[in-house]
Amino acid sequence: MLIAKTIEETKEIIKEVKSKGFSTGFVPTMGALHEGHFELIRKAKNENDFVSCSIFVNPIQFNKTEDLKKYPRTIEDDIKKLNELDCDLVFNPSVEEMYPKPDNTIYDFGGLEKVMEGKFRPGHFNGVAVVVKKLFDIIEPDRSYFGEKDFQQLTIIKALVKKLKMPVKIVPCHTVREPDGLAMSSRNRRLTDDERKIAPAIYRALKTISEIASNKSVKELKGFFIQQLRKYPQMEIEYFEISNIEDLSPVEEFEKGKKYVACTAVFLGKVRLIDNVSINL
Ligand code: PAJ
Repeated sequence: MLIAKTIEETKEIIKEVKSKGFSTGFVPTMGALHEGHFELIRKAKNENDFVSCSIFVNPIQFNKTEDLKKYPRTIEDDIKKLNELDCDLVFNPSVEEMYPKPDNTIYDFGGLEKVMEGKFRPGHFNGVAVVVKKLFDIIEPDRSYFGEKDFQQLTIIKALVKKLKMPVKIVPCHTVREPDGLAMSSRNRRLTDDERKIAPAIYRALKTISEIASNKSVKELKGFFIQQLRKYPQMEIEYFEISNIEDLSPVEEFEKGKKYVACTAVFLGKVRLIDNVSINL
């Protein structure tokens, strides 16, 4: 497995790979890798001749310095695991390498970036879009893999690629969960033992919502979610929305035949967890 720290050496490697006619897959990450990330790598390995993974904790997508400081960094373990998975290239640049000067690009995704995560983490998706665009320009992948765990991010990346007419196929991947249902996340390791025990309640409530949605109103489902999580005083719901699956606009009423997604962010103690389920009526 090749490990590159600079843009120049990464571009050289990619140039050579492409000259051989190899197809290329790419998995962007912020490291602290877990089974969710590994699934993306495995899928990319199955579908491409050459797979790159980036590990870069992107400072401009954190709207709280505290959160950036606390973000787990486990680069040695990450590299070991990627090696075992037969990943071909790891791109692990420094902040100076990625941002020699500030990048002030502002993207407009027509409102996609303003709801849910975008509302509570202002500037977050702009930072994600800036870094993903930069990474795509460096790696020039045929396919890039994103988890449905971050459903709004996935939707925004699809919009970014469409807007900039970038020649990359965005491949969505199912959310990988712990056996008890908790969505895998780099943040889970910050949960205390007690918090970890109650964390699966979030997905349990979401799953029930997806099962009972067809004969309930949006209001009733919201009420159900709040009621389920109220049992745990350690949990605080930041938002719970049922949105149109295409443009992510929150809805008040269901229309038959349309698809929706229920998304939530919940603070469990100091840790902010997000999750979602699709709703097919
Ligand atoms: P990160 O949180 O490291 O996630 C990297 C990728 O792994 C994302 O596409 C995310 O949706 C996916 N992922 C995380 N947990 C998952 C799970 N349990 N199941 C399936 N996929 C999962 O998302 C980011 O990094 C950054 O915003 C990034 C896109 C790298 C830009 O900095």
